[in-house]
Amino acid sequence: VLMNELAGLRVLEMKLRENLNLSEVIIVPGDSDEDPWIKSEMGKAAVMRLKQELTGNNVIAVTGGTTIAAVAEMMTPGNKDQDLLFVPARGGLGEKVENQANTICSTMAVKARGEYRLLHLPDQLSKETYLSLIEEPGVKEVMELIRSASIVIHGIGDAKTMANRRNSSSAVLEKLEHEKAVAEAFGYYFDHHGEVVHRVRTIGLQLNDLKNSDFIMAVAGGASKAEAIAAFMKHGPKKVLITDEGAANKLLASL
Ligand code: BG6
Repeated sequence: VLMNELAGLRVLEMKLRENLNLSEVIIVPGDSDEDPWIKSEMGKAAVMRLKQELTGNNVIAVTGGTTIAAVAEMMTPGNKDQDLLFVPARGGLGEKVENQANTICSTMAVKARGEYRLLHLPDQLSKETYLSLIEEPGVKEVMELIRSASIVIHGIGDAKTMANRRNSSSAVLEKLEHEKAVAEAFGYYFDHHGEVVHRVRTIGLQLNDLKNSDFIMAVAGGASKAEAIAAFMKHGPKKVLITDEGAANKLLASL
């Protein structure tokens, strides 16, 4: 039975890879909406996949969220001949401390026996503050590291869930509703065509910078994220997706 189930998952992976135009898909059994432990299983799969990608020198940018936090929890030490430097992909996006990119980044680095650099920035930045902060030497240095990241590990969220979790203003909530936003990643919101309809202004990796990375790995699962995953994957360079059966089945049913 187990063998058949695994063979079934491999077929699902192939179908998803083709339909979403991805470079690779890894599906773990279960649905993280129903069973939170499945997030750790995705985390484990993400760590295993990441390890295949590591070279002598690695700058790894990571986002926030409970899923990437689960990746951090599953991290294990790298080889002695590998330099690992972890950086947060973007500055504050309105998450609880345990779900912030900075926190996840330092946890991951400690578990991997690597190093980390952090961005200490407030969540909501006015244009003036933003423009002066990006000139700060300390910030500039970390930003350059972020932009040079060869590996990016990120989460994907359902647009409404993320906007509410960030306590977004009613004006923003209305805008997202009006623009029919379904997905969120890196602080950007997307409609189901994968078009950006809104973004949170903060320092760090911008969507355009992704084209400079060699390896982009999205980790997102649960049937409730199926639409968001499909929408985000229409945007930009080819990615690796680590997901679960719940999201994969729902995704394929809607294609
Ligand atoms: C946030 C990221 O921290 O986590 C978002 O900034 C992402 O881009 C979200 O969509 C995903 O969160 P979770 O908890 O569903 O993994």
